[in-house]
Amino acid sequence: MADFNKGDVLAIGSDHGGFELKQSIIEHLKEQGVEVRDFGCYDSNSVDYPEIALKVTGAIKSGEAKLGILVCGTGIGMSIAANKVKGIRAAACSETFSAKYTRLHNDSNVLCLGGRVIGPGVALEMVDLFINTKYEGGRHDRRVSAVMDIENL
Ligand code: RB5
Repeated sequence: MADFNKGDVLAIGSDHGGFELKQSIIEHLKEQGVEVRDFGCYDSNSVDYPEIALKVTGAIKSGEAKLGILVCGTGIGMSIAANKVKGIRAAACSETFSAKYTRLHNDSNVLCLGGRVIGPGVALEMVDLFINTKYEGGRHDRRVSAVMDIENL
């Protein structure tokens, strides 16, 4: 389970399209005392999103981080790349309902956001819901397991 508890590390990364929003998210999380590991990019110069997606998902796979946030222009490229990595359930979301329910029902461990799609107000609310919502389990276990079995086909 990817429930986020006090003391857990959150891995974050973006490309140039998500850089500004990533910085706002980091500031917001640090204000709340969340331990954040920033995997770049570190300025607004162009960088390829798969490179960053690999670093953030690598931190989750190794156990260093419990959850991840990836930001690109749309959130879509990051989610496609992240979902190629075994053990990753990445959700590209643009509103709060999905950010909450992807934790409740999908036990998602990566939230992908579009820096060119949403503003910081909505994004920060989504981040709070994502890290504070616990996976519901129950009937969803069977479905999440079936999704993860696809990795072994
Ligand atoms: C970069 O221009 C852009 O393609 C990227 O940020 C992202 O939106 C890809 O899905």
